[in-house]
Amino acid sequence: MNSLNRFWSVVPAAGVGSRMGASIPKQYLTLHCKTVIEHTLSRLCSHPQMSGVVVAISADDQYWQKLDLSGYVNIHLAEGGAERCHSVLNGLHGLSEMADENDWVLVHDAARPCIHHDDISHMIETLKDHPVGGLLGLPVADTMKRTGAEGNVLQTISRDNLWRALTPQMFRLGQLQKALQTALDDQFLVTDDASAMEHIGLQPRMVEGRADNIKITRPDDLSLAEMYLAQQEKQQ
Ligand code: CTP
Ligand code: MG
Repeated sequence: MNSLNRFWSVVPAAGVGSRMGASIPKQYLTLHCKTVIEHTLSRLCSHPQMSGVVVAISADDQYWQKLDLSGYVNIHLAEGGAERCHSVLNGLHGLSEMADENDWVLVHDAARPCIHHDDISHMIETLKDHPVGGLLGLPVADTMKRTGAEGNVLQTISRDNLWRALTPQMFRLGQLQKALQTALDDQFLVTDDASAMEHIGLQPRMVEGRADNIKITRPDDLSLAEMYLAQQEKQQ
């Protein structure tokens, strides 16, 4: 293992976007002239250290074929699965046909189109010699409360050292495959990749990311993402 290993990306893009409530999956909604997934892929594919990208799309996807991805290099497809973790694992299996097990893979949600090259570069620079890898995150700013099912506050949780987990999440290909497979075998449907690494006893490193790397989840997020994309374009 050394820092000469290559960097790849796996993009889970097989969700239905139920919280968005649109008539098509949110990754195919148009935003600032392009679909959400085209923004995401253009940023990943154009990063100078990225060797290639594997996108996991649903077996019954009707929208991917309609995209014009002619300007995007090194994109490969894998089949999505029932949950995000299945889609990521399928993407990793596809990637293992062309990458080394010690290569780094940056797993990044299709639904995060504002990912900035500075975040990717900073993450690679911080983690490339780390034994485990890690993830982008943001320190929690608000006071955190846990409620019961009826909404009454049961507990205030200290926000010291508390982070929101974002993507990309960067791990070694072979180790992440093993971690996700173990989590699935243990019926643990992890909602991010770092959780699978933690599940096999490893400690991913948290790397502070940019606040504009939002995940498009609900309808209001679309206008916010549009604003960030326009702002980033102006700053270039
Ligand atoms: N994803 C996936 N395969 C699934 C579920 C999710 O590849 N079976 C992807 C989504 O397409 C998205 C990312 O994982 O890019 C993060 O998931 P999320 O934001 O939860 O997207 P959806 O599952 O589509 O949305 P929702 O949970 O509201 O249905
Ligand atoms: Mg989901």
